Amino acid sequence: MIALSGKDLEYAKNIVDGIEADLNYEYMDCEFWDNHVEEYLPLECGMASGVTKGVIIPCDKPFVIKIPLKCDSDNWMSTCTHHSKWNSELHTWEDVPASEYSYCDHSFCPQFEYAYNPIDGTYGWNYCDAELGYYTLAKEKGIEEFFAATFYAGERKVDGVPIYLQEKITTLYSRSDKEHTQEDLNSTSAFLDETKVYCPLELDFVCDLIQNYGAEKTKEFCDFLDEYNISDLHRNNYGYRPDGTPCLIDFSDFNG
Ligand SMILES: Nc1ncnc2c1ncn2[C@@H]1O[C@H](COP(=O)(O)OP(=O)(O)OP(=O)(O)O)[C@@H](O)[C@H]1O
Ligand SMILES: [Mg+2]
Repeated sequence: MIALSGKDLEYAKNIVDGIEADLNYEYMDCEFWDNHVEEYLPLECGMASGVTKGVIIPCDKPFVIKIPLKCDSDNWMSTCTHHSKWNSELHTWEDVPASEYSYCDHSFCPQFEYAYNPIDGTYGWNYCDAELGYYTLAKEKGIEEFFAATFYAGERKVDGVPIYLQEKITTLYSRSDKEHTQEDLNSTSAFLDETKVYCPLELDFVCDLIQNYGAEKTKEFCDFLDEYNISDLHRNNYGYRPDGTPCLIDFSDFNG
């Protein structure tokens, strides 16, 4: 887990303070984020977005900056960059080719509703705070290594928009090399069969979880996903830290 200094928090706040756009998540959605933020970022920063979070990625820092977005279901249908469907037999996500995007309709991708904050039991658009809440609970249960360390950095000066930091990882989407032996994969399948845990993650990744954190902790982690119904786990939502250990980065799910 990374340790953040006061300087890191200041760095992040300065970047977000420098964005001369209205970042109020009561109405800012991913389309706005994608089109109105980049021009204010320093050159060393890249950016990304999902449906519910805007993300700034400083190249030479070990963390990313996350800001909550409102999910406008019409806009996200037109801007979402990855479409995938879960193949429960092969235990893997499959890309949906552009020609079949009509498959990705509201019946497959249900409208995002308010995030559930597991700490105070409230609902709201702040999916970053929900993520922080799940990270806090994971720490209480002693399974935080399964989740990217997540921090609250404070509010933006001009309008009080909340700013979050999270340790930076490489998602499975960008690094999908398969390195496991068939024997390792077979024993991972056996673990899933025997424990019957809820585990919407690719087999290779589950294999990495068991190898890094052990089967017992992996079962506790899967039970945690099940208990809180954390299911939106496509390949852009988990991956590997620079030291190779596996973790999730997007665990706020989409429905409360
Ligand atoms: N900790 C991180 N390290 C590296 N990249 C990250 C991190 N957090 C987010 N990203 C990038 O930003 C994207 C959006 O972040 P995130 O998945 O948390 O948002 P989201 O809106 O909840 O996504 P979704 O569309 O899956 O609901 C990710 O898919 C990933 O590409
Ligand atoms: Mg995501």
